Amino acid sequence: MTTLFDPLRIGNIELRNRIIMAPMTRSRANDEGIQPAFAAEYYSQRASAGLIVTEATNISPMAKGYVRTPGIYTPEQIESWRPIPEAVHAQGGKIFLQVFHTGRIALPDFLPEHTQPVAPSAVRGAAAPSPPDESTIRSRSRPVSSPGRASSVWLPLARASAAPLAAVAR
Ligand SMILES: Cc1cc2nc3c(=O)[nH]c(=O)nc-3n(C[C@H](O)[C@H](O)[C@H](O)COP(=O)(O)O)c2cc1C
Repeated sequence: MTTLFDPLRIGNIELRNRIIMAPMTRSRANDEGIQPAFAAEYYSQRASAGLIVTEATNISPMAKGYVRTPGIYTPEQIESWRPIPEAVHAQGGKIFLQVFHTGRIALPDFLPEHTQPVAPSAVRGAAAPSPPDESTIRSRSRPVSSPGRASSVWLPLARASAAPLAAVAR
């Protein structure tokens, strides 16, 4: 009989057991979205799970909806992440980064120049204080969602130290 502690293959990734740590926002990054050094210790302490999914991580300045959440779109943010997969891999664990954009429920309080979030239509989200700005040709020139950019910044890190992460970033 298969148990929770048996290995599992997902695509080309071999997990040593079937325990997957759910993504959990920790709000321990600084206001620039940079992870503290102790985040590597926190994640490596949980590396005996088959797979860790990290806390939600903003892919652009317009993605942020929660205070002190980390980002993955500036060189400083990337550097602050680098020790984390390294520490998990050193314990034989696997880790995926959860990429995140809060879309129309992003909070102006956290956005550059307190601008309104942008969405395909000006429809207010249930938890949002106001409707987002409707996306227009003009608004698309603002730094809205930029998944291509997140991939391009995350992939060098994935190549360097965390092959499974590339699967998520693609
Ligand atoms: C403190 C806390 C932070 C969370 N942060 C995230 C997150 O960053 N990304 C996400 O997808 N889910 C997040 N969740 C949802 C959990 O992953 C979810 O609660 C977990 O998968 C268990 O599912 P359940 O609440 O339906 O039982 C968070 C939950 C809690 C309690």
